[in-house]
Amino acid sequence: MSAMTGSPMTRPSRPSWPLFSVLPPMGALATAPRMARMHLRNTLRQWGLPELIEDGELIASELVTNVVRRAHDPVTGMPVYLSGRLPVLRFGLFSDRTVLLISVWDQFADPPVPKIATADDESGRGLMMAGRISASLDWHPVQGGKVVRAFLTTDSARTGEGMC
Ligand SMILES: Nc1ncnc2c1ncn2[C@@H]1O[C@H](COP(=O)(O)OP(=O)(O)OP(=O)(O)O)[C@@H](O)[C@H]1O
Ligand SMILES: [Mg+2]
Repeated sequence: MSAMTGSPMTRPSRPSWPLFSVLPPMGALATAPRMARMHLRNTLRQWGLPELIEDGELIASELVTNVVRRAHDPVTGMPVYLSGRLPVLRFGLFSDRTVLLISVWDQFADPPVPKIATADDESGRGLMMAGRISASLDWHPVQGGKVVRAFLTTDSARTGEGMC
């Protein structure tokens, strides 16, 4: 996964992202992955991209779960407060109808580190799986944290149909 430069939840620079939907900041709590999945499902139905829902939900779940995990103390399981506040994340979707960008902003500077999990490993598969099912996966540092992005493509984008 490569780091890139860019802005977080403003519309990323691509020829056009006519469709976008960014949730307001939400607490990095165990409820967040479900919220992100529901938002993705409803939004992709509205956008007429139902074929991307299954993979999109998986990726959204993995990326948001990683933030939730990072936002909790591994020993006590308690939230890691930042300047006395519960950490938040932002979940955004952008599309030009052939490509879907799933964007997850968090307040932690440390990068996602994809692992090569073996059969015995109990964890370390999330990013590997997200990388396999997305067309590309990257992250970039931003003021106050970072953004992890996954790009999914529709069948028509893969075959070139409908593209000029
Ligand atoms: N948003 C993030 N902020 C900080 N570190 C992250 C973030 N996402 C991932 N990481 C780091 O990258 C590692 C690999 O993430 P990955 O999702 O592949 O595995 P995992 O979360 O450890 O396990 P699994 O997803 O299989 O339950 C994590 O263990 C964590 O150290
Ligand atoms: Mg994970």
